[in-house]
Amino acid sequence: MNAKTLDLKVYISEEKIKQTVERIGKELTTKFKGKKVVAVCVLKGSFLFFSDLIRQIDTDITCEFFGVSSYHGGTSSSGEVKVTLDLASPVEGQHVILVEDIVDTGLTMNYLRKAIESRSPASLTTVTLLEKPDALKVPCQLDYVGFKITNEFVVGYGLDYEGFYRNLPYIAQVQNLQ
Ligand code: IMP
Repeated sequence: MNAKTLDLKVYISEEKIKQTVERIGKELTTKFKGKKVVAVCVLKGSFLFFSDLIRQIDTDITCEFFGVSSYHGGTSSSGEVKVTLDLASPVEGQHVILVEDIVDTGLTMNYLRKAIESRSPASLTTVTLLEKPDALKVPCQLDYVGFKITNEFVVGYGLDYEGFYRNLPYIAQVQNLQ
């Protein structure tokens, strides 16, 4: 199946993303300088943000990958989080930075927080590039947020529609859904 042709409008430019990634990277460097951290990339959506962000964090860092799925390809969350890939190493006693692409209802982030906290890390810091505050269904503690956005569907820079559009270098609003 090919990608459905979407009518896209640039919402957050490459330049703005770059500035924000640098800002969060600096803040995390200040927080963790001299400490070893484990950065956890939430797959699939955060892989581009994650790879840009870790290059802005100046301290000893290892990387882990946590695969979850809650959308099953469409534009609304199923409300049910499915683990597609578990962490390969224990995080017990370590400083964990959890990197998400977007917090919509908050269910995925809440699930991930509980899953990591149950493994007894020394600390857990949550980061998301995007947050849709009007879509939140459960309270969600976010330590670093790149952009707060309106409750509309976006694609690009890792975020997909039916698996496509992750390779756009910017974040776009979709004009012609439904
Ligand atoms: P939540 O559990 O409802 O907060 O949803 C989080 C997940 O839904 C994210 O990790 C994304 O994979 C997906 N998601 C939420 N909003 C969007 C969007 O606007 N575009 C693409 N994916 C989204």
